[in-house]
Amino acid sequence: MQMPKLKAVIFDLDGVITCTDEYHYLAWKKLFDRLGIEFSRRENEQLKGIGRRESFELIAGGKFSGDKVDRYLREKNEYYIKFLDNNKLSPLPGITKLLEQLNSAGISKAVASGSRNAPQILNNLGMTACFEAIVDGSMCTKSKPAPDLFLLAAEKLCVSPAECVVVEDSQAGIQAAADAGMKSIGIGNYLRNADFCLADTRLLDISIVLSFNF
Ligand code: G6P
Ligand code: MG
Repeated sequence: MQMPKLKAVIFDLDGVITCTDEYHYLAWKKLFDRLGIEFSRRENEQLKGIGRRESFELIAGGKFSGDKVDRYLREKNEYYIKFLDNNKLSPLPGITKLLEQLNSAGISKAVASGSRNAPQILNNLGMTACFEAIVDGSMCTKSKPAPDLFLLAAEKLCVSPAECVVVEDSQAGIQAAADAGMKSIGIGNYLRNADFCLADTRLLDISIVLSFNF
């Protein structure tokens, strides 16, 4: 039997490519403070990687009627966009180096994010052309921890899931990668089931990607 060969690295966006995870937190905080619902960084940990509506339901599930929820989701997104408008984004340390290393090694690169703002953020960063495929939250009905976003990214790159490594900072994303049949590098110290864990993106290097047994 022929062993799969590493062909692609699929990156999460928020908290991996850039620090927009912080702006998601601040926007949720602003909304929940206004609604008088307790919300801290501790609760925010559960929201990493999961969709906008699912996030709201986790924190405030059952408290509001359907059209109110839609209004609050729009409000959260408006706060989020305002944070993006008021702050200049840059890639997190280690990301540009890894993308260059992957380019030199002929390994494909994709983004798979549950955020519908992902294309705009990559555009703001001037990084759209760095990836051969970009999958965002509008392209799949199921967000992470479902494997769909990663599977779609592999399909767009014309590679099989077993030929991919995922870089992820959320527990939902690590779960999604495992269920997609992909290896994963977790960014952060508390991610269960990642194939490899790094405290920080600055430690990313192609040698880690290549150290997986393909
Ligand atoms: C990603 C982020 C989440 C965010 C979700 C939806 O999964 O990690 O924090 O809630 O995308 O993002 P959006 O920009 O569409 O509200
Ligand atoms: Mg993330």
